[in-house]
Amino acid sequence: MEQSLIILKPDAVQRGLVGPIISRLEQRGLKIAGMKLMRIDESLARRHYGVHEGKPFFASLVEYITSGPVITMVVSGKDVVSTVRTMVGATNPTQAVPGTIRGDFALEIGRNLIHASDSPENGKQEVSLFFSDKELVLGERSLDSWIYE
Ligand code: RTP
Ligand code: MG
Repeated sequence: MEQSLIILKPDAVQRGLVGPIISRLEQRGLKIAGMKLMRIDESLARRHYGVHEGKPFFASLVEYITSGPVITMVVSGKDVVSTVRTMVGATNPTQAVPGTIRGDFALEIGRNLIHASDSPENGKQEVSLFFSDKELVLGERSLDSWIYE
């Protein structure tokens, strides 16, 4: 079963967009296995975005993601990584199509509201960085058979 780490970035929390964004995930039928409100410190930010270390935007990216509280979530289920990435939209909101989260709510790449894992392997690795197994509290749902064939 795939896992995707979702982060509702500080701008999503400050703009009051947590509810609308989570609603989209819930309405799609996706399962949120774990969720918390937390503050990402510099060390965790550098590990999470380690692949971008050395790039010109790295310092501002770390500053952005540590600038306020975030919501972190684990979405689990079949094909969730690509499903969620499609719902999130292009990294640069100017290229994100309407109907996507970034395409509907964001305008700039440095304020693009949400992170989602970009591969099943990275999903598992990012989830283990933010969540213990014990924190993934939602398992089977009684309605799963009405969402998955
Ligand atoms: P994320 O990791 O946050 O889900 O975003 P992503 O996969 O769509 O994009 P990624 O390439 O992983 O970049 C991570 C975040 O870095 C910022 N960024 N700025 N100024 C720039 O050229 C630039 N490129 C990337 C964005 O905030 C992006 O979400
Ligand atoms: Mg990324």
